Amino acid sequence: MSVESHLIVNEDGPLAVFTLNRPDKLNALDSALLGAIGHATSELMARPMATRPRAVLVTGAGDKAFAAGADIAELAGLSAAEARALSEHGHRVGRTLEEASFPVIAAVNGFALGGGLELALACDFIIASEKARFGLPEVGLGLVPGFGGTQRLARRVGVGRARELVYTGGVIDAERAKAIGLVNDVVPHAELLARARAVGTAIAARAPLAVAAAKRLIREGSEADLRVANQLESEAFGALFATRDAKEGTSAFLAKRPPAYDGS
Ligand code: COA
Repeated sequence: MSVESHLIVNEDGPLAVFTLNRPDKLNALDSALLGAIGHATSELMARPMATRPRAVLVTGAGDKAFAAGADIAELAGLSAAEARALSEHGHRVGRTLEEASFPVIAAVNGFALGGGLELALACDFIIASEKARFGLPEVGLGLVPGFGGTQRLARRVGVGRARELVYTGGVIDAERAKAIGLVNDVVPHAELLARARAVGTAIAARAPLAVAAAKRLIREGSEADLRVANQLESEAFGALFATRDAKEGTSAFLAKRPPAYDGS
């Protein structure tokens, strides 16, 4: 697939890898790069299920950063109205990742600060290199996180931890991030992409409509009353029984053979 602005999109079997590629600026997210992430995701979603990637990995080019934030040089010149529009753009991109049918895994290879952490939080989960560093330093710039950080961090790690990180603007290392539930796993730096690929490949072996339904249920259900959320689950559970993949999965199990899913 094409290289768009500072985003490299590589497809590799059932996986797609988005690489934020502005290493000289620590992969800072200017609006073009932000837009490219949303656009690339929408392009993949426009394909029929059978030809969509089964999981997307997002990582940063270079050894130092996943993304060191929104581009402060760009922020510095914004009016209040422009800043609000940029924040709304960031929210749209986050929602595009969250609403994609395929899981999106952040493979955080270095600094994930400000908008970089907010991007990682819009992914389904985070796998971190031991070199990764996380923080929302915006209050140190006279700002607040604008791409969903005040909301998604609290939902991921709890309100108390989120308050401490946001109010202090402090930066934490990968082990601390794991201890508070911000990242799922910390792996040796050189193994990061291989480990993230292994998780993506495990997901890719499963039925894509079922994975997509699970992703939607966890996201929508976590915002809903438990009774409503369970109702959503029952609806999805029932709907999956009308799919070829569910018939394939159950009959393959009973026939003691591996299933072959095609997303229908
Ligand atoms: N926006 C724009 N440019 C950024 C950036 C950002 N968020 N973060 C880093 N850069 C640029 C630097 O300006 C520098 O560019 P230059 O070489 O043209 O001067 C380059 O990336 C390298 O960064 P530098 O600060 O020299 O690296 P460092 O190793 O000394 O420090 C950090 C690394 C991450 C601690 C530091 O870059 C930093 O604090 N960045 C900003 C983090 C932040 O506040 N993010 C939230 C933004 S809302």
